[in-house]
Amino acid sequence: MIFTVAIDGPAAAGKGTISKAVAARFGFRHLDTGLLYRAVGARTMEGVDPVEAARSLQPDDLDDDALRTQDIAQAASRVAVLPDVRAALTEFQRRFARSEGGAVLDGRDICTVICPEAEVRLYVTASAEVRARRRFEELSPEDQTMTLDDVLQDVLARDQRDMNRADAPLVAAPGATIIDTSAMDIEEAVEAAAQRVAEALIAR
Ligand code: CDP
Ligand code: CDP
Repeated sequence: MIFTVAIDGPAAAGKGTISKAVAARFGFRHLDTGLLYRAVGARTMEGVDPVEAARSLQPDDLDDDALRTQDIAQAASRVAVLPDVRAALTEFQRRFARSEGGAVLDGRDICTVICPEAEVRLYVTASAEVRARRRFEELSPEDQTMTLDDVLQDVLARDQRDMNRADAPLVAAPGATIIDTSAMDIEEAVEAAAQRVAEALIAR
């Protein structure tokens, strides 16, 4: 069975949490596409050319809690504006999306660019203040000195860059189901997404 759940939205909206839970519930594979951009951003911080880093990326580079720092998130959003970086990462994501057995992908351009034909397309969002608070409460060890306001400024800077770039900007795709998690707990957010998946599975 080919079945894709495409999830876009800004930082700390709940995409990853929802994706993991939905993938586990329906037995689908999950790809956090932000990790691709984080891995490229991290290589760039070591002086590697971003396009070269994107072209030589290996799946093993992605499985790493070390990619969860705020510095790497910023570096990721800087390399993510480069069309050649995005192009180098497209094929891998498309193949994953249409692989046998069902797939959940979360990122910024999954519904708009990577898999517009996805059976389920969601835009998960929340207010910037709620998202900054969530990120603040799960800061990596390297980021423990950051204040809530530092995190909010980081989130806002990344929103700006992601929403205003020319290539594959973050936007709710026409027809995508919008889930605003500002006032939802994790269970409610997961239920909202899982319900859409269940409806789409029944309808096919
Ligand atoms: O993947 P994304 O950056 O969109 O967000 P996430 O990593 O899934 O969620 C960021 C944090 O917010 C996690 O610690 C979640 O447990 C938490 N969260 C929450 O408190 N309430 C929700 N409705 C969704 C996520
Ligand atoms: O977890 P969080 O939502 O904070 O960020 P992420 O999903 O790991 O993404 C890090 C950065 O990668 C984003 O701010 C985007 O600039 C970029 N990204 C992208 O451009 N396209 C994607 N499909 C996924 C991430």
